[in-house]
Amino acid sequence: MAAPLQNTFVREIETNTDEVLCIHQLEVGDVGCVVWDAALVLSKYIETPDFKNGELLKGKKILELGAGTGCVGIIAAYLGAEVTITDLPDFVPLIEMNIDKNKSAIKGSARAQPLTWGQDTIADYYHYILLADCIYYEESIEPLVKAIIDHCREDTEVFCCYEERTTGNKPQLQRKFFQLICENFDTEEIPLERHDSLFRSEDIHIYKFVRKKS
Ligand SMILES: C[S@@+](CC[C@H](N)C(=O)[O-])C[C@H]1O[C@@H](n2cnc3c(N)ncnc32)[C@H](O)[C@@H]1O
Repeated sequence: MAAPLQNTFVREIETNTDEVLCIHQLEVGDVGCVVWDAALVLSKYIETPDFKNGELLKGKKILELGAGTGCVGIIAAYLGAEVTITDLPDFVPLIEMNIDKNKSAIKGSARAQPLTWGQDTIADYYHYILLADCIYYEESIEPLVKAIIDHCREDTEVFCCYEERTTGNKPQLQRKFFQLICENFDTEEIPLERHDSLFRSEDIHIYKFVRKKS
């Protein structure tokens, strides 16, 4: 559960055009209250030449799932995308606060909405779906895959960034996630050399999924 919004500390994220976005994190609360490394890696990846240094996102409709602080979606909105940033209902106030704190930098648009995987759908056409470090919860693997499927059209591109974890049940969860994803999507790992040159790490992967053609 997210804590009340009083005690926050800021993670500054410098963009390629030297704009600094300030993402507020909660001192106390569940895992989504802070910016995870996978979110930083994905936020910086969408500014690389793979996205024409962010130009490609201008005017595109994006859904972020399991957004936590909203970091990735806010960077996408800064780059000009129209972004719906989602998480469990408890996280919506934190995402709203971060949208508000960065509103002067946002060139596109950003709105926060509750979306519980597998239960809710926000009907729209999305060019991209973004998710960072969401392969994390045993009970939520199937609902997460369902949420991705529910929001994908034929040509939606999904970018899934996650930190590879080797302890506990995490390797098993990652295998289960990819097994379900591969039944429905063609997958491609983005090689490390195409990640941002500073914000990259051997154990943080970015995958692109597109629906298998029927
Ligand atoms: C490890 S955190 C990552 C947060 C953020 N994407 C980041 O990388 O900084 C996982 C996020 O998934 C969200 N989450 C977990 N189960 C969920 C569910 N069933 N439906 C929607 N979001 C969920 C959590 O609330 C949390 O914000």
